[in-house]
Amino acid sequence: MSLTRIVLLTGAGVSAESGLGTFRDVGGLWDRYDLADVATPEGFARDPALVLDFYNARRANMRAASPNAAHQALARLQRAWPDRVTLVTQNIDDLHERAGSPAVVHMHGELGQARCAACGHLWPAPEAMSPADPCPACTAPATRPDVVWFGEIPYHMERIGAALAEADLFVAIGTSGAVYPAAGFVAEAAARGARTLEINLAPSDVADAFDDRLLGPATKTVPAWVASLID
Ligand code: APR
Repeated sequence: MSLTRIVLLTGAGVSAESGLGTFRDVGGLWDRYDLADVATPEGFARDPALVLDFYNARRANMRAASPNAAHQALARLQRAWPDRVTLVTQNIDDLHERAGSPAVVHMHGELGQARCAACGHLWPAPEAMSPADPCPACTAPATRPDVVWFGEIPYHMERIGAALAEADLFVAIGTSGAVYPAAGFVAEAAARGARTLEINLAPSDVADAFDDRLLGPATKTVPAWVASLID
């Protein structure tokens, strides 16, 4: 099959070996925090300092981490096949970009970006954010990380839908398939005729929806898969 359009979807598993941890594995973030407190608009309204501290800690972890071989292999694929690979990520870290990926569709936003909840202004997030920080544009003390919380609409859904509609291969990498709409992308792509491949440490919640699967740590499976395509 000639591969003319590939859509990649990554999740926390692609950054796990960079030390950023995942959400739902044993000891993951949602074992240590109640997501209702730190990843919902209601939690932010209740205790903005707790939420900003949660993301300040994740931002510090991100800045201390380095991209791994999986991020680098995906960047290599994008550079080898420009305009044929759409990289969508649920991750809010910047490891794909730091590995050299030329374009990354962050459907859940970005830890490195701040947003004003009052006027919508966006700017590069400082090291640490606090509820008293004034918005650089409207000065309201309403700053938040530019990340998509549960109950909010993910970003770039039209662009993602268009890419899925014309994909001939959809590959999910390091995601549990626990959260929609991302978990539904495999069915969307398959319905339009794409082949589907899951690359994961263990079968995801939607594993049965995939034609093929590669199991193992992303730093091993992803470089091998990319090499099988372009070497
Ligand atoms: N290599 C490959 N896959 C791995 C590795 C690894 N080294 N380690 C873990 N994984 C896989 C797990 O098997 C699991 O399928 O990564 C996945 C992690 O699942 P989650 O923790 O649920 O992360 P993710 O799928 O990205 O979560 C989706 O949920 O909480 C929200 O917004 C958050 O974007 C996140 C979304």
